[in-house]
Amino acid sequence: MMLEKIDETLLTLRNISFSYKMRKGDKLPVFDNLSLSIMFAEFVGIAGPSGCGKSTLLRIMAGLLKPDSGEVYFRGKPLHSPDPRISMVFQNPTLLPWYTVIKNVMLGLINEKELTDKEKEERARTFLDMMGLIGFENAYPAELSGGMKQRVAIARALVSHPDLLLMDEPFSNLDQLTAITLRRELENLWLNQILPISSMVLVSHDIEELVEICDKVIVLTARPSRIAGVVKIDLKRPRSRRSQEFYEYVDKIYTLLS
Ligand SMILES: Nc1ncnc2c1ncn2[C@@H]1O[C@H](COP(=O)(O)OP(=O)(O)O)[C@@H](O)[C@H]1O
Ligand SMILES: [Mg+2]
Repeated sequence: MMLEKIDETLLTLRNISFSYKMRKGDKLPVFDNLSLSIMFAEFVGIAGPSGCGKSTLLRIMAGLLKPDSGEVYFRGKPLHSPDPRISMVFQNPTLLPWYTVIKNVMLGLINEKELTDKEKEERARTFLDMMGLIGFENAYPAELSGGMKQRVAIARALVSHPDLLLMDEPFSNLDQLTAITLRRELENLWLNQILPISSMVLVSHDIEELVEICDKVIVLTARPSRIAGVVKIDLKRPRSRRSQEFYEYVDKIYTLLS
């Protein structure tokens, strides 16, 4: 990959505890002493019951939320705030409606002060091309389908060449065919090392999706969330959903979830 391997771990959460503070001083405990690592060049899936804290976990990994205790390390250094080398894709694409597609993607380069507008536009065009959106540069989000909007959001997340891409159920609001296509394309870009990222984290409630594309799947328990298990997926790619081994992995994860 394009990254120097300082150490094998890209992101580490160590003994993280986190509660949401509610009105009247009540607390909603989400994590209690959670530890996990994302390695360089690893595609990690996260599964867990609804409301267990998957989205919260991604926000902690992105430096958007601070844990009450415990440490987050990114490339060997404590992470205290959002880092431009970490990008996030949400369930609902958050595009600016009054910006064109290409301008929305260029927003991903807002921290790259040394690039000229022309260079930013060229970079954005490269990623629009990768996401199959050439011809839509000057369209507005309202003119696009849900799948196309999500493609724009992914292009915007990638355009800054992040080390880590965090994706929170990015396919779950798309129709099934669009979801399958987009997931395959992303997997192929990843496998062929066309994406300028080292590691990806994908939150999904679709266990088969996780077994199909991830190197390992972290399964969380209900709140306050602990690690129910980490399942390393040792299957050759591309993976057939019809094989016996595939189902054994799916079963293993369902067992951990129940
Ligand atoms: N901003 C917030 N303030 C208070 N509680 C929240 C907030 N965001 C999420 N929660 C609660 O925290 C728990 C974990 O939420 P979340 O991380 O969204 O779970 P998941 O993504 O696994 O469904 C849920 O019980 C949710 O209702
Ligand atoms: Mg969520």
